[in-house]
Amino acid sequence: MVNQWKAKMLLDKNYKIGVIDKRIYGSFIEHLGRAVYGGIYEPNHPEADEQGFRKDVINLVKELQVPIVRYPGGNMVSGYHWEDGIGNASDRPRRLELAWRTIETNEVGTNEFMDWSKKVHADVMMAVNLGTRGIDAARNLIEYTNHSHGTYWSDLRRSHGYENPHNIKTWCLGNEMDGPWQVGHKTAVEYGRIAQETGKAMKLVDSSIELVACGSSNTDMPTFPEYEATVLDLAYDEVDYISLHQYYGNKSDDTPNYLAKSMDMDHFIQTVISTCDYIKAKKRSKKKIMLSFDEWNVWYHSNEADQKVEPWSVAPPLLEDIYNFEDALLVGSMLITLLKHADRVKMACMAQLVNVIAPIMTDNQGSSWRQSIFYPYKHVSVFGRGISLHSIIDSPKYDSKDFTDVPYIDSAVVYNEEKEELTIFAVNKHLEENIVLDVDIRSFQGYELIEHIVLENNDLKATNTVHRSNVVPHNQGESVIEDGELQIQCTSASWNVIRLRKNHE
Ligand code: AHR
Repeated sequence: MVNQWKAKMLLDKNYKIGVIDKRIYGSFIEHLGRAVYGGIYEPNHPEADEQGFRKDVINLVKELQVPIVRYPGGNMVSGYHWEDGIGNASDRPRRLELAWRTIETNEVGTNEFMDWSKKVHADVMMAVNLGTRGIDAARNLIEYTNHSHGTYWSDLRRSHGYENPHNIKTWCLGNEMDGPWQVGHKTAVEYGRIAQETGKAMKLVDSSIELVACGSSNTDMPTFPEYEATVLDLAYDEVDYISLHQYYGNKSDDTPNYLAKSMDMDHFIQTVISTCDYIKAKKRSKKKIMLSFDEWNVWYHSNEADQKVEPWSVAPPLLEDIYNFEDALLVGSMLITLLKHADRVKMACMAQLVNVIAPIMTDNQGSSWRQSIFYPYKHVSVFGRGISLHSIIDSPKYDSKDFTDVPYIDSAVVYNEEKEELTIFAVNKHLEENIVLDVDIRSFQGYELIEHIVLENNDLKATNTVHRSNVVPHNQGESVIEDGELQIQCTSASWNVIRLRKNHE
């Protein structure tokens, strides 16, 4: 008899983690490298629209169904003068951009970006500068974007051709303020105070907004999670979300350990939830702080190349990671981790969206193309709308350098009540063995298989290029339903999307 690897999953439509906020499929565009200039915006490109935005890129972003985009940074926002990016484009100043040591031309600013966001059907998560600036610049910006008319800043916006306010709902109070690399870096007490006071002023201008306070830049920061605790202690009344940022890499070329890093992400989320709830208890508050995982991805391929870029150039290629197949597997697992915390993670941004550590790449004057990580991101964004379900899963496990008891099968389940659809996302982290995942779906009577999409490749390091798509999904996955049991064949090292729908015939 063939020794077959097996995992088991028990599902029930009543075991709900929570309603998925679609904003967990957000992304991020920073004025960094070729994200804006040469990425979303290239006025002399053959595909440019009347505003200079590349239509081929717009179409790829639309394919991902990105619901919200964080803007304009990132580290860049900590030195940004938003007033440089409004009004007549030819009058806008060129500035030294200190975070990435480039020249910012300011051709694209707040209004242009709001226009672009409408073209891709996304909302904007706007960040204010709490590095070199503070309350005044932030309250002026929100008056400019959100106030209707009859004041200096709102009428200035109208004079710039934007009669109606942009009504931006979600705002980040600075970026990674705990990081010594940040221009205007702040201790937790310094930041907590300015976040509270800036948030207060912004909510006085527009009480309908939601605010995200900075948490730690990553879990290795020496002040994590004390930074979160202090900031929330000082700014609890004004903020609604705390931010999490985390990037992973496989520098030591240890794939089993690399693929286990989603467990670190899970632990990070649990720690931040505990910290939020500790402050809630301390304050005897009824308010629950939610999580905004507003920077996450794989980032390490480009690190050495970036060091060779000359400073003070316009839109140089920076952070242009070329992603391989195993990166797509980890990205899939990171998305699964977000879904497992759908009750508390209400926003998340894959960082970033175009050219800079991104699922979408472009050539200047040339084509645009999909990286390997584009696919799991697209699948979860498109099919992962609804309710995240608890699933009891029994999978064979392994130990790696930094992790123990890593389940080979990592999975999340989404139930869309309205469409009567059930979607299972699963990564098989075993590099040699196929694993059959048996799912008890008796609570989904009458559901039939629509398709089983698979991303797999014999070469873990396979990449896509502008000329060749080596890492692309197919929908020939082997799944069958028999006697209330769904049997999913998860081939070794694979990303799987199994879609079911109720049949009323
Ligand atoms: O996304 C790239 C950079 O990573 C961002 O500017 C910063 O916030 C983070 O350190």
